Amino acid sequence: MKEIRVSLPHLTYPIYCAPSALERLPELMHRHQAHEPLYIITDQRVADLYEKRLAAVLRPTGLPLFFFHAPVGESAKTLAVAEELYTWLIQNQADRSSVILALGGGVVGDLAGFVAATFMRGMHLIQIPTTLLAQVDSSVGGKVGINHRLGKNLIGAFHHPLFVLLDPLLLFTLEQRQVAAGLAEVVKYGCIANSELFHWLSREWSDIAGLKDPQQIQHLLLTCCSIKARVVGNDERERGGRAILNFGHTIGHALEAATNFETFLHGEAVAHGMGAAAWLSLHKGLLSHHDFLRVSTLCEQLAPPPIPDSVTEERLLSLMLHDKKRNRSGQQWVLLSAIGQACLTRQVTVEETSAALRWLLDR
Ligand SMILES: NC(=O)c1ccc[n+]([C@@H]2O[C@H](COP(=O)([O-])OP(=O)(O)OC[C@H]3O[C@@H](n4cnc5c(N)ncnc54)[C@H](O)[C@@H]3O)[C@@H](O)[C@H]2O)c1
Repeated sequence: MKEIRVSLPHLTYPIYCAPSALERLPELMHRHQAHEPLYIITDQRVADLYEKRLAAVLRPTGLPLFFFHAPVGESAKTLAVAEELYTWLIQNQADRSSVILALGGGVVGDLAGFVAATFMRGMHLIQIPTTLLAQVDSSVGGKVGINHRLGKNLIGAFHHPLFVLLDPLLLFTLEQRQVAAGLAEVVKYGCIANSELFHWLSREWSDIAGLKDPQQIQHLLLTCCSIKARVVGNDERERGGRAILNFGHTIGHALEAATNFETFLHGEAVAHGMGAAAWLSLHKGLLSHHDFLRVSTLCEQLAPPPIPDSVTEERLLSLMLHDKKRNRSGQQWVLLSAIGQACLTRQVTVEETSAALRWLLDR
């Protein structure tokens, strides 16, 4: 079993990764002294696929197990569902020493993590992410939260798990569209921090995207999580460098909002956003034409749905003005100076932004 550590000034925790790692959960729980009742939060779809297996793996521990099935999809990340969870925890005698186990995609991880951060001022958490996006991104770094009707992820906390368990075999039941959305975040890591990862993706795209080989996926997960662990370790609270993880997200968020979160999965919107951010990098003289072409080609291979005609440049610009990552000194952009090298800047004019949006909308 491979291991990466997330090291923060106040705590450190491991990410374990191996095909069939799920079978070793009891051993890992023992290692982390998680000997208390387990409150397992999942969604209905993941429960249908994996709950019986998880229960069988945990049976030898003899620990009391409680299961909660959240609704499938973003609608689970609400205060109403969090409140149901608090009630469920109280009714089942959870206390601060109990452990919440999040088994699912980013939605389950964010919701369960938020409840773990807030119930009795904080419970132990174990993350077992089951989507590619959650394995390479959302389960690592401690951001947990729920949505408000006025915006996504507006209510939340930083709450780190005892450990994260990554089992590539759990990804084999994912729909291809979910895989591609997760791969967008993988492409992002290559663009911002690791040219070797980027070139490997370009070379072996069809094998990697087909999730054919568990060892290959393990390597992919470890590479991405090492980058995320390093970036978060240097700037947990996003006061500086962590913002590079938002490459492609400035325009991506605006695209999601402009289509009422109905047209694109998050990673698909980010794929469009990365292409536009690469174009902007080229036109600001930061990125070579050769590297721009390589980035835009890989973004096209992610095959995000086309942008509907109803999405206009004006609408995207106005949404970007209200982005929660914007502050008084303007929009923070993540641009590229080369493949594998991101730079942060607020020196992007409205005219330059408009030009990048036109490039994106007119393609
Ligand atoms: N906390 C963070 O740092 C962070 C970072 C990025 C994204 N996020 C959040 O993550 C969420 C998106 O996560 P997501 O893309 O994983 O979506 P998701 O959790 O909704 O999962 C996508 C779909 O896949 C299904 N699924 C999950 N695992 C499966 C499996 N192994 N086999 C088959 N189907 C499976 C789910 O039931 C769901 O229908 C968003 O709410 C986003 O805000 C958080």
